[in-house]
Amino acid sequence: MCGIMGYIGEKPVQNILIQGLGHLEYRGYDSAGIAILDTTTKTIKVQKMLGRVEKLKQTMKPVAGIMGMGHTRWATHGRPSDVNAHPHSDCKGDLALIHNGIIENYLDLKQDLLSKGHHFASETDTEVIAHLIEEELKQQALKQQKTDLKTDLKKAVDTTLKKLIGTYALCVLHKNFDYIVVARNGSPLVLGLGKGENFFGSDVTAFIAYTKNAVYLNDFETAVVKKDSIQIFDKSGKPVKRNSTTINWDVEQAKKGGYEHFMLKEIFEQPRVVRDTLQVKISDDVVKLCKSAKKLFVIACGTASYAGLVGKYLIEQTAKIPVEWDAASEFRYKNPLIGRQDVLLVISQSGETADTLAALRLAKEKGAKVIGIINVVDSTIARESDQVIYTRAGPEIGVASTKAFSAQLAVLYRLAEKLSSTGKNLKLDSLPALIEKVLKQNDAIAALAKKYFMVYNFFFIGRNVMYPIALEGALKLKEISYIHAEAYAAGELKHGPIALVTDQVPTVALVPKNALYSKMISNIQEIKARNGKIIAIATEGDQEIKEHCTDVISLPKTDEVLYPFLATIAVQLLAYHIANLRECDIDKPRNLAKSVTVE
Ligand code: M6R
Repeated sequence: MCGIMGYIGEKPVQNILIQGLGHLEYRGYDSAGIAILDTTTKTIKVQKMLGRVEKLKQTMKPVAGIMGMGHTRWATHGRPSDVNAHPHSDCKGDLALIHNGIIENYLDLKQDLLSKGHHFASETDTEVIAHLIEEELKQQALKQQKTDLKTDLKKAVDTTLKKLIGTYALCVLHKNFDYIVVARNGSPLVLGLGKGENFFGSDVTAFIAYTKNAVYLNDFETAVVKKDSIQIFDKSGKPVKRNSTTINWDVEQAKKGGYEHFMLKEIFEQPRVVRDTLQVKISDDVVKLCKSAKKLFVIACGTASYAGLVGKYLIEQTAKIPVEWDAASEFRYKNPLIGRQDVLLVISQSGETADTLAALRLAKEKGAKVIGIINVVDSTIARESDQVIYTRAGPEIGVASTKAFSAQLAVLYRLAEKLSSTGKNLKLDSLPALIEKVLKQNDAIAALAKKYFMVYNFFFIGRNVMYPIALEGALKLKEISYIHAEAYAAGELKHGPIALVTDQVPTVALVPKNALYSKMISNIQEIKARNGKIIAIATEGDQEIKEHCTDVISLPKTDEVLYPFLATIAVQLLAYHIANLRECDIDKPRNLAKSVTVE
């Protein structure tokens, strides 16, 4: 959460920062700010405000500078406001600091700093870091009078970091130094290498328009970023040599390409995404690991966890291997019974989700092996996994995850095939064309949305492998339209939630022609008997379903195991069109951030 972007080079920095922050807004958008070393006055100029980057762009004053940094915030400590926006400064305004993460001991540190006479402008945890560095530089300056040692910003940052408990990606700009110091522990930070200019960002989208050469920082590393060099240091201060990675996607892929929203573009990319991801080779090492595991676990958060739940059903049913599934935020605190002979599959689009990363680290501590199913190459979870399978979704910008989910399913289906001792062929190659057919119903689904966009509550129901798709459908609707939606395994409705069914509470029933079709029909009847309206997501040519349901979205006829992919597209489009009719901010829903790097 929070987006960080920085530049040092020869070009005017202000527009570079604003452009980069625009690409990072999916990480948070409560407030935005920039700090630039003004070339004329040799002072730090901070401009920041509540609201989006666009607002900052419209209102900021031009500052001449070639060195600066910016931040887009997802609030943790301190409500979204002008003063709580980053960058933060020391008492004199000589330094500016931006931070992504949480400083847990900030209250103690603040107390101490207040007693030393520091003045605080904000309610944030971050501001203490700026004052701690100020204090360190003050101490250095005092020593300097006696020893002739020069003040050293990097040293001041290092000493400060030792006092912090918590997580951070942080960047420090000071008027007296011709470099920016950056550091990371628990929040992502990546450096971009240019010619006569260098960049840093929370992810490569910040600077992909300028360079494709990236160097990822690891936890407890710091770097000194100058215009023509970057030096990385480990925890003990030793220099670290690291080769750069070439980013294999393009700035065009991170643009809307004529669609009204990133989410719609990303929904429509799914035939390509699934086709590409099905080409990904699952290595023999991965297969061996999974087959030799005493217990196989699948762990993730949010949408990725629902992909994991589909994976659990599928691996158990196709490969006959039992799988334990959990949300990462639960797994990490329940003292899980995982050990040396076990294997943990972690799934993450961003590869940076704090709870998923913590679950991975816990499993490794206990001796288990970890296989990551990850979209962002070289992300923290990818780097810390023993084996990685990369999904090929490309950059996902919409905060609501869509194409990453389908890509995760594609990997899990391939894995299930590989793990089946009978060499089961799930006929996955037909998927891109089938998905195209569902996408052709976009207009029909948009029309259907007009009937339902004003309701306050929705149910989603499904059975077996369609149940996680019901969960995903409800999550999509909640996140982007703010309509309350609950998903249930269809047989569970009558154990309580059916009390809420009225003609004002529609149910989306995932009822393709499969082995549980008649069970689903019974559940639909139970809802109908209580005046509930039903939108069925069913199989084309199914005449019977029309008699039971108010509206029907038809999926092309296929093998029953493939319906989760197709129903996913339908629920995504339904959520999208409902949210659009409600004029919601689809790509940046309130209170959310794309990458949840705090627990
Ligand atoms: O980057 P990750 O896949 O680890 O993210 C996991 C969840 O935070 C994410 O899927 C979230 O639930 C999305 N907003 C869902 O649309």
